[in-house]
Amino acid sequence: MNDAQTAERLVEAARDAAANAWAPYSNFSVGAALLMADGSIVTGANVENSSYGLSLCAETVAVAKASADGRMRDVVAVGVVGGMTGEHGVEPILPCGRCRQILNEAAQAGKRDLKVWCSGLTGGPIAEYTLSDLLPHAFGPANLGIA
Ligand code: THU
Repeated sequence: MNDAQTAERLVEAARDAAANAWAPYSNFSVGAALLMADGSIVTGANVENSSYGLSLCAETVAVAKASADGRMRDVVAVGVVGGMTGEHGVEPILPCGRCRQILNEAAQAGKRDLKVWCSGLTGGPIAEYTLSDLLPHAFGPANLGIA
């Protein structure tokens, strides 16, 4: 599978995941899909809370799922989509700052940069980034003296 096919596969998985977003407050659904080293995919969707600040982003949920399954070192690439729930969203959305840092933990654990493919909730172009584009000069385990 080439990069473009992998991007399509991840974005489609993220769109499926976004269908399970719990976003009754913002009505903004986000889906994330992590490509793992063995070719499998781990997904996440945002989980909002009536105490708004407790809400979890889709990328964070996906990384937590991977980590809880002992797979923190195995994340290779990321797909993210988002948009207003039930609407036709074609503008790519990019991971928020906190999620960039959360994704960096997986990238550092696996000692690799991550491709990050971003698209709209229901369609539109796929924009390609790397995590190091999105989070230059990141704080990471090296700052704590951990290789
Ligand atoms: N959201 C994510 O899930 N990921 C991001 O990277 C940006 C924002 C969620 C949080 C909240 O549930 C909704 O989108 C609107 O901010």
